Amino acid sequence: MQLDEVADDTTEVLLTQEQIREKLAELARQIEQDYAGEKLLLVGVLKGAVMVMADLARELRMHVEMDWMAVSSYGSGTQSSGVVRILKDLDTDIVDRRVLIVEDIIDSGLTLSWLRENLVSRGAKSVEIVALLRKPDAAKVDVDVRYVGFEIPNKFVVGYGLDYAEKYRNLRGVAVLAPHVYE
Ligand code: IMP
Ligand code: MG
Repeated sequence: MQLDEVADDTTEVLLTQEQIREKLAELARQIEQDYAGEKLLLVGVLKGAVMVMADLARELRMHVEMDWMAVSSYGSGTQSSGVVRILKDLDTDIVDRRVLIVEDIIDSGLTLSWLRENLVSRGAKSVEIVALLRKPDAAKVDVDVRYVGFEIPNKFVVGYGLDYAEKYRNLRGVAVLAPHVYE
């Protein structure tokens, strides 16, 4: 779906499909350099990271394996609590593996810092993070994100995997959700 098809539900277009594509290509070039000659496992966090995973993985000019986790951070609506539950675990044994967590957005950073510690504790050789978007609050939790696409303002955004009540994930770009939709 194109952003203009939901123009009434959004206040501002943050990123077009083309801007996202260009940024993922830049990130892919860095990842190729950093993991040259290595066996890399991409771990996508369901469901938001599906689009980032699909486009980033295809942009990479190297072999990668892909696996998925689904986690739920307790809390409701638009706030995250940092208490995390695994809904779907990895199929892959990550002992001694180099792992790159693929995320859509880092807001509080609580989910990701928990996830990284969890994967490190399983004996991974390295666990890094790539996130398409990062909000300013992420600075409060000390989560070291190796690759960040865009720093965005502290507003609720949808599209390119990001949802509000499971809608808008299939937008091609990213836009700020209009308050009348959730108020
Ligand atoms: P954190 O633990 O606060 O970093 O939570 C991150 C998760 O919250 C993301 O993976 C998203 O699923 C969700 N999230 C945070 N901000 C937004 C937003 O602006 N739009 C949609 N989902 C969001
Ligand atoms: Mg997510």
